[in-house]
Amino acid sequence: MLILAIETSCDETAVAVVKDGREALSGELLSQADMHSVYGGVVPEIASRNHAAAIGQLAQLAVKNAGVAKEDIGAIAVTYAPGLIGALLVGVSFAKGLAMALGVPLIPVHHIRGHIAANYVAYPELEPPFLSVVVSGGNSLIADVRGYTDIRILGRSRDDAAGECFDKAARVLGLGYPGGPALDKLAQGGDDKAFALPRPVIAGHPYDMSFSGLKTAVVNIVHGAQQRGEQLDKASLAASFAVAVSDILVPRVMAAAHECGRDKIAIAGGVAANSRIRVDFLRAAEQRGLSLFIPPLDLCGDNAVMIGCQGYYEYLAGVRAGPDLNAYATMDADAPARIRPL
Ligand code: KG4
Repeated sequence: MLILAIETSCDETAVAVVKDGREALSGELLSQADMHSVYGGVVPEIASRNHAAAIGQLAQLAVKNAGVAKEDIGAIAVTYAPGLIGALLVGVSFAKGLAMALGVPLIPVHHIRGHIAANYVAYPELEPPFLSVVVSGGNSLIADVRGYTDIRILGRSRDDAAGECFDKAARVLGLGYPGGPALDKLAQGGDDKAFALPRPVIAGHPYDMSFSGLKTAVVNIVHGAQQRGEQLDKASLAASFAVAVSDILVPRVMAAAHECGRDKIAIAGGVAANSRIRVDFLRAAEQRGLSLFIPPLDLCGDNAVMIGCQGYYEYLAGVRAGPDLNAYATMDADAPARIRPL
């Protein structure tokens, strides 16, 4: 079964053709990061307008590069939550039109479920149950993936997402947007013990996380150095920051895997591209004899392949949307699909 999948939840316009939920026949992506970088973050209206301008051509390209005819497409999958509402609506509206024109089912996909599913494309042998951690620009959560469409959230960030924290720390260090990759690179030459940064614990909620205090600590260190006219060792601050994020994530995920009795851990989301976090997860998993799955870099960030993959499993579970499908800025990954029966 071929699914044409659409992703427009933030600043990447993406369309892919995915076969049977596991094989990407094409994956087209147009990143708007450069357009938003001058503003230091994503400007929602600019994102929506650029999705509208790009999506038609990307869809044509995705079908062409997959080497299939549009008549071969069996369903349309689309990210409908969570994300920037105007951006999501572009993808949802386009998907509705396409599903109607081709006379095929429309499958709404939760963006975070999609991130988790990126691992299915990268690792054909991976099947639930497993423990997953999703760390992206808008979300940070730890989930027990009991089945392809049966997810239980164990903990989440109470404030900023890990990626948001990376981006804000990078901005104050003058690294531009999105700052995660640049901060990762800068950290390579630094001493990760040079700065004492917080690793907050939320009493009674062992899997919940907090990143905003970490971000504030970095901002205060940078501003303090500026006010005193001191030269700051930015590489060491970046390295200390990356290890602090890793220290917040890794022990929680290991403890959650132990509690749920899972022997597999799948990491997902843009921050999973971070080299320090990857190394720390690998080491911790190896020590405990757990299998670790980390998608390749191109599947870590937002993309449509992951939406086509999760869309297939939602399809098998009977999830279908009608022409009244709406988009939602917020929605829990373990909430039932917000659709009306057809
Ligand atoms: O998953 P994603 O593309 O978008 C959302 O769904 O939010 O994640 C984007 C986030 C950004 O905050 C970006 O700075 C971060 O992932 N990121 C990284 C790295 N590469 C991307 N953060 C740390 N280290 C990286 N190498």
